[in-house]
Amino acid sequence: MAENRDSWGSTFGFLMAAIGSAVGLGNIWGFPYKMGMNGGGIFLVVYLVLAALVGVVVMLGEFSMGRQTGRGPVGAYRALCKKFTFVGYFGVFCGFLITSFYAVLGGIVLKYMVSFLAAIFKPSTAAVMTTASGDFFGGFVGNGGQMILCLLIFMAVTVFIVSAGVSGGIEKFSSVAMPALAVLLGVVIIYVAFQPGAGEGYKFMFGVHTEAIKEVGLWTIVKTAAGQMFFSLSLAMGIMITFGSYLTKETALVKNSTVIVIADTCVAIMAGMAVMPACFAYGLEPGQGPGLLFVTLHSVFAEGMGGFIGAFMGFLFYLLVFIAAVTSSISLVEGVVTFVMDRKADKGLDSSKRRIPTIIIGVLIFAFGIPVSFDALGGGISGGAMCMTPAELFGMTDNIHGWNDCWLDFYDVITEGILMPLGAFLMCIMVGWVTGSEFINREVQKTPGVTKWTARSYFDICYKIVSPVILVVVLIAQFGSFFG
Ligand code: PHE
Repeated sequence: MAENRDSWGSTFGFLMAAIGSAVGLGNIWGFPYKMGMNGGGIFLVVYLVLAALVGVVVMLGEFSMGRQTGRGPVGAYRALCKKFTFVGYFGVFCGFLITSFYAVLGGIVLKYMVSFLAAIFKPSTAAVMTTASGDFFGGFVGNGGQMILCLLIFMAVTVFIVSAGVSGGIEKFSSVAMPALAVLLGVVIIYVAFQPGAGEGYKFMFGVHTEAIKEVGLWTIVKTAAGQMFFSLSLAMGIMITFGSYLTKETALVKNSTVIVIADTCVAIMAGMAVMPACFAYGLEPGQGPGLLFVTLHSVFAEGMGGFIGAFMGFLFYLLVFIAAVTSSISLVEGVVTFVMDRKADKGLDSSKRRIPTIIIGVLIFAFGIPVSFDALGGGISGGAMCMTPAELFGMTDNIHGWNDCWLDFYDVITEGILMPLGAFLMCIMVGWVTGSEFINREVQKTPGVTKWTARSYFDICYKIVSPVILVVVLIAQFGSFFG
């Protein structure tokens, strides 16, 4: 049977989907704080250098692999260099496992969004406005039933969009959602800018804190920036290979890879301009991760701003976080779905109907999300959990680390900690030393009007040496932070 592969309707749609994948929780809860803690302006410069040396380079490689082979990660590696097929499987598995915890977080975002929406109509009595933020969060994550319900709804939204296809689902949704996200972010940034005390937040983020080089050390700044960049750009889990496989030859690869990296960084900075000044304006210590997103910011809206405006701004903010999380999770699921559909096409089966496979994949991801929803995000050790944490399961309760304290962290260490940097490292080795970059050269030149791969030697050096070295650094750093 002839394969009837979907493709992006327009370059704009593709860009929105790729930027939508990149812009997610990582931008909002990681970047601003890491930037502030690691030298502000200095961190930004290091981040941008790494993004140019590794981010754009790996992204271009992934798009080229996808478009050249017309396959998701497994098929692409198999077609280009059979020995590396396992790296493709890493990617699919990574996408699967990341979604299993990402969707739980998405579910929590949903809970906050809906709670603030309801509070707009009765701000003085709504629980989200009157309960202390730590208690609200603890009460919710300790309630396995509610966590599962929110996970289920979040996965259902994701599956619904992915099952409508690449151009009809992901592209359509992202083309509306990403501009909407930019507008919402703009509104929050402007409102926050007028709060007294906001200036301190900008100073925290953008000040060039040279003393940080002494305090945290340049090494820490570099490894923090590198880890952040990988996760934030959705690299090394086959997503950009998958997206590349739906590209038409009109789309310029080098230019668009650069645009995506720049856009993702801009949104991360903008998220910081919304979040950090808000924390400082209300005298709260910024942190990172779930604590920042669900506890600190909750009290900014509920206690700091308070009343109708607090509920309203809270709703807008969590709506934009929700959009960012959905566009990332659809890209993760798409990677897995494409893998299954490619298999069908390779076997000569009908690969045009994706609804049932998408639902099955959604159900499996949901099943893997159950322990993440039930261990109260590590509250198991202090109570409130409905299942064992990995530490309890492995009999390691005297020996709690960043990797075994809860299922979310356990999945995170396997994926973000190990498989992602390892996968990217192997990809660079393949392009740099095994297949060579000729296939990328061919892809770059397919675009009408592009006759030469400018700066090819720069890219070659990055594939061969610079990126692998930086990736080894990331791998060592991730190991240290999870197991140290
Ligand atoms: N890039 C997304 C973020 O910053 C997360 C993500 C990682 C999405 C990997 C897809 C793949 O939150």
